[in-house]
Amino acid sequence: MTTALASDSIIAVIGAGTMGAGIAQVAAQAGHKVWLVDQDINVSEAALAKLATGLEKLVGRGKISAEHAANTIANIKPTADQHDLAGTSLVIEAIIEDRNVKHHVFAGLMGICGADCIYASNTSSIPIADIAEGLEYPEQMVGMHFFNPAQIMKLVEVISGKRTCGKVADIVYHTAVAWNKVAVHATDTPGFIVNRVARPFYAEALRMVSEGMGDYTAIDTVMRAAGGFRMGPFELMDLIGHDVNYAVTDLVSEALYHPLFEVSPIQKALVDKGDLGRKTGRGYYDYSADLPKLTNTAVASTSGQLIIGDNDDDAILSPLWNRLSGAGIASKLGKTTRFDDLQLQLHSGAPVTESDTATVAFDIALDLTSCTALACQRNQACSNEQFQALANAFAAADIFLIEMPNQAGLPVARTVAMLTNVAADAVDKQVCSLEDADKAMRYGVNYPQGPFIWADQLSPNWVQTTLANLAHHICASRYAENDWIAKHVIEQRNFYA
Ligand SMILES: NC(=O)c1ccc[n+]([C@@H]2O[C@H](COP(=O)([O-])OP(=O)(O)OC[C@H]3O[C@@H](n4cnc5c(N)ncnc54)[C@H](O)[C@@H]3O)[C@@H](O)[C@H]2O)c1
Repeated sequence: MTTALASDSIIAVIGAGTMGAGIAQVAAQAGHKVWLVDQDINVSEAALAKLATGLEKLVGRGKISAEHAANTIANIKPTADQHDLAGTSLVIEAIIEDRNVKHHVFAGLMGICGADCIYASNTSSIPIADIAEGLEYPEQMVGMHFFNPAQIMKLVEVISGKRTCGKVADIVYHTAVAWNKVAVHATDTPGFIVNRVARPFYAEALRMVSEGMGDYTAIDTVMRAAGGFRMGPFELMDLIGHDVNYAVTDLVSEALYHPLFEVSPIQKALVDKGDLGRKTGRGYYDYSADLPKLTNTAVASTSGQLIIGDNDDDAILSPLWNRLSGAGIASKLGKTTRFDDLQLQLHSGAPVTESDTATVAFDIALDLTSCTALACQRNQACSNEQFQALANAFAAADIFLIEMPNQAGLPVARTVAMLTNVAADAVDKQVCSLEDADKAMRYGVNYPQGPFIWADQLSPNWVQTTLANLAHHICASRYAENDWIAKHVIEQRNFYA
């Protein structure tokens, strides 16, 4: 059975920048002696001093003991002499993102550390096979992709290139687990798992703005307050930096040519202008001023009557009806769900049909029992008075009803459907397993739920219907469902069957 490297194995981290310093801390905290190497020894020494300050703060907050902090720092040794690395069991490279520089560094290290050492790259985008091409021990080369900040983010993607030995990938996987990380296996494909599957989170938001579905603030608010994401897509892109986020989209788009990965002209314009987000003070938002906020003008009221039907949608929406009843709104059972004369239904990709029946459709949420806002849309038969009465009833249940135009694809529904579609494509193409796709999104980018677990709560049928409606109303090729989803619908089974 393959196991993790023993804690007395020596680790070397090459590159003492943002990622390398964090990775060195993780390995040192697990008890390893760690060589920290940078082209500039002052950088390694400064990195170690910064790690010591960070650990002291953790001691001050009672998170770790003073002894653990001292041992961790004592375990890390900066060096300028690569020959010190002889006897190292695992080298983790975290230098600049340049294939030739990485290749050259590994060539030198293989001459020092030999055939038994494992050579891991923290590259975010360069194929492991490209770095390994022509090296002495390509079977010892693997991807070990940490997320920023490495000390905090739980995920490590373990990437096998075409010549990576299976045992090497397994040792790295188990070592990451022993370092208290969540490890996943991925094949050597553009964006690996996280950077590939995350694309729709940004792409759908950008598309919604260009379709006039809402502005940055409205979409961010819905994605946070209803979708349960820690940050909305525009806030997050501003934090990551548009140069970085655009470059990843461009890479995945070029490599996996498909309309669902296409780059957005809105984001390209920001990159061209140098408005790169928080780091330049301006991106989608202007950080020199207070950020805009949505205001709920509804006034909580318990007037009106809720009639709760028993159609399929209600299985998903029933927590909403419970909240309204619980807030004191009179309710009774009936054939279809209504609020007074207003028909209420679940949104699944399509706009509400224009008819004489006044209708409101609701977006999905991560958790309808606790969400503080919910996107919705209405047809023209729904008057302002009817809508206001509904918004007031929702305000009584502490839900801010955010109205969006009656177009295809409300924010959370289309994002979840497309995350599932892209994750299904990755599983279908054997980039990763279903479980690892969920783990990667949960622990690499802190999504509130893995796409497949979330999709199962709604049903594969809901995903299929939503994608079909988006394809019909917006763009057939972009929203074409993956066959693997269709297979689950045909076989009437969930993704986690
Ligand atoms: N920053 C992130 O969010 C992030 C996340 C995951 C992966 N990565 C990947 O990790 C790697 C490092 O990224 P970073 O953000 O830490 O970069 P960084 O610029 O903060 O640090 C890179 C360090 O490598 C050193 N360096 C450069 N060439 C070297 C060489 N030949 N030998 C020794 N040291 C050398 C530099 O002096 C610098 O200190 C890249 O491959 C990047 O794609 C970055």
